[in-house]
Amino acid sequence: MVTDVTDRKRAEQQLKASQEQLSELSRHMESVREEERTRIAREIHDELGQTLVTLKVYLSWLVRRLPQAQEVASEQVKPMYALIDSGIQTVSRLSTELRPGALDDLGLTRAIEWQVNEFRKWTNLEFHVVSRPKHFEADPETVTALFRIAHEAITNVVRHARATRVDITIKKKRSGITMTVSDDGIGITEDQLQNKRAFGLMGMKERARLLAGTVNISGVPGHGTTVEAFIPQRSRESKP
Ligand SMILES: Nc1ncnc2c1ncn2[C@@H]1O[C@H](COP(=O)(O)OP(=O)(O)OP(=O)(O)O)[C@@H](O)[C@H]1O
Ligand SMILES: [Mg+2]
Repeated sequence: MVTDVTDRKRAEQQLKASQEQLSELSRHMESVREEERTRIAREIHDELGQTLVTLKVYLSWLVRRLPQAQEVASEQVKPMYALIDSGIQTVSRLSTELRPGALDDLGLTRAIEWQVNEFRKWTNLEFHVVSRPKHFEADPETVTALFRIAHEAITNVVRHARATRVDITIKKKRSGITMTVSDDGIGITEDQLQNKRAFGLMGMKERARLLAGTVNISGVPGHGTTVEAFIPQRSRESKP
């Protein structure tokens, strides 16, 4: 009996320890991934972007020196400009998608407003962003997590909700930051919420959990879906 209890206690402790280890690993992987994205974004932007711009300058130089008789040749060059320009645009889009500069420079609210503007360009959804206070300081890990959660939640609205409107509210309190993304679409179902293969939903929850926060998702059939994320204020002593 006594050994039984001791064995069980030990097993419980081992389980807890391995859960903590997994959690730590997962958090580490996440920060490595984010650093990697930042590095790749910078490299694509600086290296590849610079190469294309230089190529364009050389091409202009060459075209200016083509003799008049070679007009046909200079006509042939035009599509090359178009190709280089589209390459430059792709570079800009890729590097921004990987790690929006807005995230490091503008703070959470402006970064989300920027992201929402990107969505506005290619959807008919009506977006409303409210933040109280309008702008505030937050630690970079929290900002990144909330930004990525908002991105997944909005992408889900665009892809699945058949909504007309999305409301994003951000509230900074002393205890932490709450962010909700709600839509007026068809509403996520209980089955979809319980689905073990809903990696987008799991990803949002995991990001919050790694910072001791939570993500709650709920749906009302025909009335929409709400994703509510909370990340607690981190004490200065806590790990970076
Ligand atoms: N805002 C929403 N409104 C209605 N249904 C939703 C909403 N968000 C998610 N769902 C449903 O929940 C499912 C799971 O979402 P999840 O984000 O995990 O997967 P996904 O978006 O299909 O794929 P991905 O892994 O690319 O994110 C979706 O397939 C969709 O059926
Ligand atoms: Mg998704």
